[in-house]
Amino acid sequence: MKSGQHILALDQGTTSSRAIVFDDKLSPVATGQYEFTQHFPQSGWVEHDADEIWATTQRAVKTALTDADLTASHIAAIGITNQRETVVLWNRETGAPVHKAIVWQDRRTAETTARLKEEGHEATVTERTGLLLDPYFSSSKLSWLLDHVEGARADAEAGKLAFGTIDTWLIWKLTGGARHVTDATNAARTMLYNIHEGRWDAEMLAMWNIPEAIMPEVLDSAAEFGMTTGETIGAPVPIRGVAGDQQAATVGQACFEPGMLKSTYGTGCFALLNTGDTAVRSQNRLLTTIGYQIGGKPTYAVEGSIFVAGAAVQWLRDGMKMIESAGQTGNLADEADPHQNVYLVPAFVGLGAPYWDAEARGALYGMTRNTGPAEIAKATLESVAYQTRDLFEAMKKDGAATGQTVLRVDGGMTASDWTMQALADQLQAPVDRPVVRETTALGAAYLAAMQSGIAGRPDEFAKGWQQERQFAPKMAKADADAKYAGWLDAVRRTLSST
Ligand code: G3P
Repeated sequence: MKSGQHILALDQGTTSSRAIVFDDKLSPVATGQYEFTQHFPQSGWVEHDADEIWATTQRAVKTALTDADLTASHIAAIGITNQRETVVLWNRETGAPVHKAIVWQDRRTAETTARLKEEGHEATVTERTGLLLDPYFSSSKLSWLLDHVEGARADAEAGKLAFGTIDTWLIWKLTGGARHVTDATNAARTMLYNIHEGRWDAEMLAMWNIPEAIMPEVLDSAAEFGMTTGETIGAPVPIRGVAGDQQAATVGQACFEPGMLKSTYGTGCFALLNTGDTAVRSQNRLLTTIGYQIGGKPTYAVEGSIFVAGAAVQWLRDGMKMIESAGQTGNLADEADPHQNVYLVPAFVGLGAPYWDAEARGALYGMTRNTGPAEIAKATLESVAYQTRDLFEAMKKDGAATGQTVLRVDGGMTASDWTMQALADQLQAPVDRPVVRETTALGAAYLAAMQSGIAGRPDEFAKGWQQERQFAPKMAKADADAKYAGWLDAVRRTLSST
């Protein structure tokens, strides 16, 4: 391996902080990973300690470098990818967060977003930001912090505070407070960024009562984000790639052509369909977002966001104690009685696209005296396929997806052949699983490598994408449709307004 040609990717997710060292061919060579505390101060509230996020990130870097037998001076560049929308607000002078970070899953601002929707603000929000009025995004959480932390508003107006999503917070820490920056994909999730004009939107800032002084500078996804200080990771290294985790996965899956779709199965499931230069406005409750921004040019995507996918399997394991490890779920599901039609609607934190119901809560339907763990496990895995079909149907109605759309999947849950087959059956379309399933970190590493001149342009990177297995539909369309009709009925009964 050539020294000095390695790339370090930081993948800061909802439940763990990871660092992955890639070699100059963008093959992963070592990983460090640490989980951190999830704080649930009230029902529907989810917080993280931003200092713990930083500490676990530093530890992960140390582990990955040690395992790779490298020091920071061997790293040519850093790429960062992160859980999106999560809000950190800190004091510029001390670097101390003024409050715990409010996580994307947090629903504390549901009443505020519902009120603004009733007052008729959603059309303007969607027109400017591509998003919908839901507590998922950063703006209502940031506004909550400014209203509830003593002195925060005055300090914000005096320019003493800085706001950031997790990428911005990590860059600030890595550069010793020298840079307050983000990239266009992360900015696009705040509900404060005009995705068509490429700038913070004055009307959105005013609507959420947020002073522009606290906002970071927005750069391309491949850009010069700053240099780490020697103290933070051991040597000065340039940060050259940044993208929100779902956008980084889109890059890592080489979905560079309009019409290409990737779906990542982690805590939730996020499907992004590349729409090229056109910001397609969904008529079916999907989001319009920036897929990546290179050379000053945004590439747009429509996104379907599902809040609970892998988290439902965690619930089977940790909450219901029906399995000991996630890998057992498929075998258990195979034992299910095929004549029972049990549906799980995993609305544990409300429902995302295309329903956007923050108040809905999870439900199981169709149980009989014979229903047991096998049927519930099957319903759990099938819920992932049905929810993805919801998104795919919405994309088709929008004209963004067609029968020919290529679907690439990634993330931990794609290890389950059972789920991937259920997915192909429901979509009645082939599902392509790549050799590299951890494409999020790969996407961030690629952006940094491209900016450093180590990797070529996107079309060259795309040539290296390799399929491990394709799942083709095995179920007859009529059977898949009948099962899906049962799902739609279950969702209808779960929505908070029914
Ligand atoms: O929008 C939320 C998403 O970015 C979280 O992803 O993988 O950390 O669950 P993940």
